[in-house]
Amino acid sequence: MNILIYETYEKMSQAAAAIIAAQVLAKPDSILGLATGSTPFGTYTGLVKLYKEGILDFKRVKTFNLDEYVGIDKSDDQSYHFFMMENLFSKININARNINIPNGLANDLEKECAAYEKKIDAAGGIDLQLLGIGNNGHIGFNEPDVHFPAATHIVELSESTIEANARFFPDSGKVPRSAITMGTGAIMKSRRILLLASGGQKADVVKELVYGEVRPQLPASILRFHNDVTIIIDSEAGAGLHGKVI
Ligand code: F6R
Repeated sequence: MNILIYETYEKMSQAAAAIIAAQVLAKPDSILGLATGSTPFGTYTGLVKLYKEGILDFKRVKTFNLDEYVGIDKSDDQSYHFFMMENLFSKININARNINIPNGLANDLEKECAAYEKKIDAAGGIDLQLLGIGNNGHIGFNEPDVHFPAATHIVELSESTIEANARFFPDSGKVPRSAITMGTGAIMKSRRILLLASGGQKADVVKELVYGEVRPQLPASILRFHNDVTIIIDSEAGAGLHGKVI
């Protein structure tokens, strides 16, 4: 694992945007795996800036988002569709046909999961997967479990995730109870992985991810078996690590 610790959220976001930018510059038809949540916000701002400055071109880029809530419409401002449109897609020249986000309103959710996974494979697999990490160690919405769920699936969100995500909703009763998520199998098949974490509330889980045992109770720990993972964190999230702050 390549671990980069930056003093501030702004710097870590710039570094993450630089890695994604380098991927797109080296392979203009890159397949990017994308995440939502508060952590990648600065990274997306950085990518938009590089696009506006004429340095990046997303015309041939394809994207696959990790997850989406079940039961909320794309136009709902809490949906991950809405987040991605608002923070990235509406601000760059990506082709709408190249954007993929699971459909949490599909009539047959099981079928939607299988089709999503197939589509990733048919596109050639993900070149670079961006990830955040939940306080409980989840990646995508692969929650702590007794096994690593490999396939794209429907997941009942854990109480700790519902609680963490309640900050985006008027009240915790409004947080959807389930979501579609890419499984750890699809994530591990990505050729490169970039995981971001920011803030002191992530310090314990980051420490466990780096030094703890690989176990399904900490889904992110499976990344230790991947051969191309970069972790970018700020100094607060890296408080439990021995590495030096850049
Ligand atoms: C979002 C996702 C989640 C988040 C994680 C961290 O698409 O897959 O795993 O990355 O919950 O969320 P934040 O960044 O809000 O702390």
